[in-house]
Amino acid sequence: MSDATVIRVTGESEYAVTVGRGVLDRVPDALGERVAKVLIVHTATVGKLADDLRAALQQRYGQVLLAEVPDAEAAKRVEVAAFCWQIMGQADFTRTDAVIGLGGGAVTDLAGFVAATWLRGVRLVQVPTTVLGMVDASVGGKTGINTAEGKNLVGCFYAPAAVICDLDLLATLPKNEILAGFAEVAKCGFIAEPEILDLIEADAGRATDPATPEFQRLVELSIGVKARVVSEDFREGGLREILNYGHTLGHAIEHAERYQWRHGVAISIGMMYAAELGRMAGSLSDEAVERHRRVLSSLTLPLSYPGGRWAGLLAAMQRDKKARAGMLRFIVLDDIAKPRVLAGVDESMLQFAYQEIAG
Ligand code: GLY
Repeated sequence: MSDATVIRVTGESEYAVTVGRGVLDRVPDALGERVAKVLIVHTATVGKLADDLRAALQQRYGQVLLAEVPDAEAAKRVEVAAFCWQIMGQADFTRTDAVIGLGGGAVTDLAGFVAATWLRGVRLVQVPTTVLGMVDASVGGKTGINTAEGKNLVGCFYAPAAVICDLDLLATLPKNEILAGFAEVAKCGFIAEPEILDLIEADAGRATDPATPEFQRLVELSIGVKARVVSEDFREGGLREILNYGHTLGHAIEHAERYQWRHGVAISIGMMYAAELGRMAGSLSDEAVERHRRVLSSLTLPLSYPGGRWAGLLAAMQRDKKARAGMLRFIVLDDIAKPRVLAGVDESMLQFAYQEIAG
């Protein structure tokens, strides 16, 4: 069997995240013995991979079905979930059958939602095929779809039985997709794991090349951060909120860009903003803010956004579901790896921080 690192998520739900090269052969064991039928939810981009996985699984399971769904946010629609439910209904899926999510973060979010809702929950194995999917979306059990009113408004916490991250699947991923995924890797570095920042600073080229040991180490470290956080706080009652570093402004930018930007690109600007806010709130040093700039620019991620957009961004942030009781919340750092919540900040300070990143 292929070499792999196994990272355990514990707490309310327990499962293993396997990271390695050529580890797809572990999917059948992850599905387990009791399963009879399997639905692979995938996009056209990974159609060949879905066919290969289906052929491999057919040797062991009675029926293996494919549900090809649209790419990216277009996958996270109730009509697409209904399409998957229809396939399951017509195949008489029972509670002991299983769903595999094969694709990027949007597909694993959708597959998780479909698995969570079919007969109140069937076994789910996530097989992410993007950096973002591996280090963030597929781990931690957040599942969901969008509505016309906003992103992720419908969904539930539903833990997978296993997550299989085969780094070989990233070999053909476009470089800009990898770099956008690295915004979440850098985020894990800023909030909890300075070794991540050291590795990116040492050689961003090697760090972002899926063939290198540095890349594997970075994926493992990032999943390690996520696993530790969700093990302690599965339902986002507290600690899990630190994973939203850069996301308050980042989500508003995604909204302003009509979700045409890659998530990580918006989050990069959001982290730069959060760093400026951290400095103004009095605790983050100039050097730590500069480190944000260095790391994110070495990943060729953007650091600024047009100055004239502030009013629209503020309105979008106020609408965001993370605004609790009318109060905007940001994750800021007191230092690298020392995150905390900043709430109830004066609008003038928010705008002042924005001026620091306005391009
Ligand atoms: N992506 C943030 C979280 O899983 O909580």
